Amino acid sequence: MILKPTMPVVALLLALSGPAAAQVQFSQEQADQGKSIFTMQCESCHGGDLNGGVGGGPPLTGDYFLDLWADQPVSGLFHFIKDTMPADTPGSLSSADVARLIAYILQFGGAEAGGEPLSSDPNALDAITLERPADN
Ligand code: HEC
Repeated sequence: MILKPTMPVVALLLALSGPAAAQVQFSQEQADQGKSIFTMQCESCHGGDLNGGVGGGPPLTGDYFLDLWADQPVSGLFHFIKDTMPADTPGSLSSADVARLIAYILQFGGAEAGGEPLSSDPNALDAITLERPADN
């Protein structure tokens, strides 16, 4: 039997088809819950205005944030927060809380709540693109 090199073909097909990009949606409830978590667990380092705090965290809003995370799947931001934040106790957040935090960060940055709640399943977030707000 001859083994065919199927893996590169599959990878190529995936790269060509790509996920159907959908826009981020989140609920107001998620954003509200995210705000409380943020105040307790993120604000000391990232600041109440999300522009950096005394603990040395970088901005989570504006161009700094968008240049890192916009125009790509939300799953990247999700994994980063889930795996590395809060920097003093990484890995301590539930997936649902990470989704709430993302909702709050996006709303702070000007996104409107409404529609479906943001999923806390990273596979689903692979297909959702973090868009820049219209005025950025
Ligand atoms: C002890 C300080 C500290 C705490 C608490 C903390 N962070 Fe961070 N955070 C940092 C530092 C330092 C970096 C930069 C590290 C890097 O880029 O690898 C960072 C980077 C980030 C980034 C990526 C850079 C950016 O600006 O987009 C995100 C997103 C983030 N933090 C979210 C959070 C969230 C959400 C929480 C609360 C659950 C949190 N952080 C709590 C210190 C902290």
